[in-house]
Amino acid sequence: MDVFGTRDFDDHELVVFGRDASTGLRSIIAIHSTALGPAVGGCRMWPYPSTADAITDVLRLSRGMSYKNALAGLPFGGGKAVIIGDSRSAKSPELFEAYGRFVDSLGGRYITAEDVGTTLADMEHVARATRYVSGLGHKNSEAGGDPAPRTALGVFLGIKAAVRFRLGRTDLDDVKVAVQGVGGVGYHVCRLLAAEGVRLSVADVRSAAVERVRDELNAVVVRAESVLSEDVDVFAPCALGASLNTQTIPNLRARVVAGAANNQLASAEDGLALQLAGVLYAPDYVINAGGIISVAREYLRDATEAQVTSEIQGIPARLTEIFERARRERRPTNFIADEMARERIGRGERRMVA
Ligand code: NAI
Repeated sequence: MDVFGTRDFDDHELVVFGRDASTGLRSIIAIHSTALGPAVGGCRMWPYPSTADAITDVLRLSRGMSYKNALAGLPFGGGKAVIIGDSRSAKSPELFEAYGRFVDSLGGRYITAEDVGTTLADMEHVARATRYVSGLGHKNSEAGGDPAPRTALGVFLGIKAAVRFRLGRTDLDDVKVAVQGVGGVGYHVCRLLAAEGVRLSVADVRSAAVERVRDELNAVVVRAESVLSEDVDVFAPCALGASLNTQTIPNLRARVVAGAANNQLASAEDGLALQLAGVLYAPDYVINAGGIISVAREYLRDATEAQVTSEIQGIPARLTEIFERARRERRPTNFIADEMARERIGRGERRMVA
């Protein structure tokens, strides 16, 4: 595989492969940019079908973290790690300790945390081998812990901002939202939406996850294959990436796409397709920054829970600025967000024109 020549290689500063034979660890860390500070981003554990798939994912995710941290105003660059393996069967404390040693070998250029397939408990094992880890337990009144509820808060506030902008509604009463994926973040998004009178449709590939939301929040369960074409006002992708692509966008009936998943668009051009279809897209790394704000503040130990909440409350204003600029310039929201992020990290040379 020609890593330097792939579409997703964006002058990443560093891509390293870590192997520990005794625990079976196979991991890749990608640092996209440290222009604004050490690279921060979670560690994803996933049974990638090939190493090439894992490389593509870590390249895309780490660039996304640079953009996310830059637009969230955090003093951090962007990086990400993947562990190749099935999180349901291949985990062990020793594996995460070995991963911790791998992170430590970078001397603080990369700081890790949890992501899809990894948990707070896993990060406690990582912390035995390195101090360059965040997303651990709470310490007194300092910010920290599981980032998922913090991500959900930002997504919820972002959905409100998008509904206001696109549908002209200041409340969410009877607004119809379809949520794809009701795991750590999606579940909390549903709870916040339900409390404001939203009519929820939910889909997940795990039946226990949807049953909980159905029973607790009166959500209607829909099929995972058709959630994207539900007749709703808002589609909230909270599962994995690339759910919006050339196949799915023509079937979308929602007028707003706003959710937690990273890399929701299969390619940047899909943002243009959404714009042309009259769909307002809330750029993923802007709306889902709540978790990284919490993780970053926990690492820096410079904020209380209340201060983190108030920082997350800045997400809707940032989104509205992007929505307004996109409308003024008649360009897709993701192009505007990418451009703003690249300017902040000093890589403003690639102007994206629709
Ligand atoms: P999670 O693993 O707890 O939940 C994801 C859920 O999506 C699971 O219940 C899974 O069964 C479901 N799912 C997978 N494929 C599906 C499909 N095709 N259709 C329907 N459901 C499907 O992960 P988490 O933490 O809730 O994250 C969700 C998304 O948000 C991910 O893309 C993640 O990268 C992103 N994100 C998460 C943050 C966090 O704080 N946890 C922060 C920022 C982004």
